[in-house]
Amino acid sequence: MDFLMVQLNKDSKIPLYEQLYKGIKDAIINGTIEEGSKLPSKKKLEDYLAISQTTIEFAYSQLVAEGFISSEPRKGYFVHNLEELALIEQPTPLVLQEESEIDSYSIDFSPGKIDTESFPFKVWRKYAKEVISEGNKDFLLLGHPQGDYILREQIASYLYQSRGVKCTPEQIILGSGTEQIMPLVIRLLGRDAIYGIENPGYPLTHHLLEDDQKSVPIPIDEDGVIVSKLEQTNATVMYVTPSHQFPTGAVLSATRRNQLLHWAYQQSNRYIIEDDYDSEFRYTGKPIPALQGIDQNQRVIYLSTFSKSLMPSLRIAYAVLPKSLIAQYKKKYSYYAATVPRMDQHLLARFMEDGSFAKHLNKMRKIYKRKLEIITKTIAEYEPIVTISGEQAGMHLLLTISTSKSEDELVLLAKQAGIRVYGLQEYVTGELDIATYPKIVLGFGGIEVEIINDAITSLINAWDITKNTADSI
Ligand SMILES: Cc1ncc(COP(=O)(O)O)c(C=O)c1O
Repeated sequence: MDFLMVQLNKDSKIPLYEQLYKGIKDAIINGTIEEGSKLPSKKKLEDYLAISQTTIEFAYSQLVAEGFISSEPRKGYFVHNLEELALIEQPTPLVLQEESEIDSYSIDFSPGKIDTESFPFKVWRKYAKEVISEGNKDFLLLGHPQGDYILREQIASYLYQSRGVKCTPEQIILGSGTEQIMPLVIRLLGRDAIYGIENPGYPLTHHLLEDDQKSVPIPIDEDGVIVSKLEQTNATVMYVTPSHQFPTGAVLSATRRNQLLHWAYQQSNRYIIEDDYDSEFRYTGKPIPALQGIDQNQRVIYLSTFSKSLMPSLRIAYAVLPKSLIAQYKKKYSYYAATVPRMDQHLLARFMEDGSFAKHLNKMRKIYKRKLEIITKTIAEYEPIVTISGEQAGMHLLLTISTSKSEDELVLLAKQAGIRVYGLQEYVTGELDIATYPKIVLGFGGIEVEIINDAITSLINAWDITKNTADSI
């Protein structure tokens, strides 16, 4: 068979299954393999090319997913008619077809998920009833463009007590999610701003800023963003997640915090955007105060959200602007209505005011801590092949797997076992040689306590890693 001529380079950085997939795909496109031909069985190809059946399975699955071949039960794989296929020649991200498949996973380690078992529905319902009442006809009309004062007041007091953030309600702006607030902040800072973005980092910042070429990726190490690298660039605004870097989980060290503030103080147009998205959940050591609280020169724009602490579907986040930017903000945005429904604002304000929010956070901290303990204990059985980092806070951590398999392979193997995980490379922009070994971002918020041990064991089994012994591949 002609296409058994596919050349595989075992020393290449490109995984074998990707080389095989591409080789067969090219052969189908240029007609070397004719329409209707049967591809060799996995066993035959395994013997011929001296590669594993898993590798062949990956390549064939991707070709099936893209419509180049189809699988007929008990007969094998057959090449499709190309004319029926709209061929789009572009770099094909292997493996990633996911949006429509999200529901097909039985275990989902997405970092965006929270525990839905412990939400205080009763109290929430009570306030919803109180707020949605004829006595509150006023809530049918527009409120303050920055969000109603009553909620901003609650947030200001909560932030001071729990995060050391110093602000008045006048400095707070509510928005329906960090993703709605970031573009406002970017517009506020003007066209000349050049953004330092964490790399790897929060995809939103990459999407928002990369297109306009207004951003410079700044690498991360175990102490968070490497400020000395930032200093070598022309960036004027640095976006950081200092309390629990997304996605590596690194905590910005005290030295780096000072260095970063010092960098901002050197020029009047420099700012730091501090995204404190999951800092409510810290499990070891003392809470680390927000950068905003130690900033002496009004250079920190503080962002946070209720997506982790309450629920992502609430769509309430906020920014605390330095006083110096408030007048400018009002001038630019006072004609825009607040993007958060007023009834939700008032409901949340009552929930915070009566202490339910603090109670909920205490409860959830214990639950997430418990989940983390189970994960740590289960993973310990596979150390040092699998190691954990970034677990001091939040609802995700990083696994480093000492294996010759690539990140894509690990993600795909998990997927075949019905488990959704993400490779760290997905959060990287441009070229960044971050990983000696593949790293997997593991969100544990959404996995129920009762199944978390089994979920981790199934994941490790899918990767074919044995307890406390070297991976054989
Ligand atoms: C780094 C980071 N910031 C902010 C958020 C929250 O975004 P939003 O407020 O739009 O839900 C997330 C995700 O939950 C995140 O990972």
